[in-house]
Amino acid sequence: AYQRMDESELHERIRNAKKALGDKLVILGHFYQRDEVVQYADFVGDSFQLANAALTKPDAETIVFCGVHFMAETADILARPEQRVILPNLAAGCSMADMADEDSVEAAWEDLMEVYGDEPAADGRQAVIPVTYMNSSAALKAFCGKHGGIVCTSSNASTVLEWAFERGQRVLFFPDQHLGRNTAKAMGISTDDMPMWNPRKPLGGNTEDDLLSAKVILWHGFCSVHKRFTVDQVAQARADYPGVRVIVHPECPMPVVDAADEAGSTDYIRKAIDGGKAGDVFAIGTEINMVNRLQAEHPEMTIFCLDPVICPCSTMYRIHPGYLAWTLDGLVEGEVRNEIVVADDVATHAKVALERMLAAKP
Ligand code: 13P
Ligand code: SF4
Repeated sequence: AYQRMDESELHERIRNAKKALGDKLVILGHFYQRDEVVQYADFVGDSFQLANAALTKPDAETIVFCGVHFMAETADILARPEQRVILPNLAAGCSMADMADEDSVEAAWEDLMEVYGDEPAADGRQAVIPVTYMNSSAALKAFCGKHGGIVCTSSNASTVLEWAFERGQRVLFFPDQHLGRNTAKAMGISTDDMPMWNPRKPLGGNTEDDLLSAKVILWHGFCSVHKRFTVDQVAQARADYPGVRVIVHPECPMPVVDAADEAGSTDYIRKAIDGGKAGDVFAIGTEINMVNRLQAEHPEMTIFCLDPVICPCSTMYRIHPGYLAWTLDGLVEGEVRNEIVVADDVATHAKVALERMLAAKP
């Protein structure tokens, strides 16, 4: 029935439900959500800020997460046990998160332990520290919690890698090869010391020697939105707008990050633009809903997406106002729809890895 309702009815339902639920409800929204959804969010942020926001609303009975599945799982892990987390559309996943499954990572870990042995070195450091990007399943965060590892987001990846190198000789970084490579390179690690792990090949497609000299072993995952950005697009932006400031998300391939002026999380991009002045020109390498919103908020500047072909994150886009209205109406009627529940044993270990991240210096 909600699919057939016109937009104005959906919006009225959302407004009424928000009013009826009051402080019992908090709506969180990622920057990539469409405007029709973002307008209802009590807090909009990047993945790290949204994880913290889940912690800072202890009075809300229900967190409705307008984002993707791994974000809602993280909120459920960090929230108080009495709080429930709802993802308005359960089909809102993340194709990158799906590129690392638990079995493949477990198998890779076993292979690596064969090569390195699982005894710590004389200086006490582990042979390998697993680091998972926030964009991963709760099961992989739990894996990291169990094996002395940690979670990172795009806003704290270098801090987290430093944390990992204090405790380990190497890092296994999953699922995003680009964030891993860009962050490690910025820390001075040579790309020669970053072999890629392909779970379909023996030893991930590497020789033992490659693995013995490795500093960061990169999983073969990527984001299909950010891998579209190219060095040619950066060159075109510079040709069209001399003086343009090019900022890209670190999920972009390394040559694109190298060609840009800066790389940073969605909140880094937002802050850079908020700090700009009239007449500034920004070319941005990230999802289009966010870029268009920044341009609408700052008509005194020119802000455009590097990719001329519209590139939304198709899974974020699955949070349609119809799903938001349907889940909120359910709450008003006392029916919980689309709850995300992480099993206790997974949540306990995943929380260890998330809390290590939250405690690592910002
Ligand atoms: P941020 O942490 O920068 O918001 O990134 C999340 C994400 O999924 C980017 O594709
Ligand atoms: Fe996942 Fe890419 Fe969408 Fe971010 S933009 S949620 S990494 S598919």
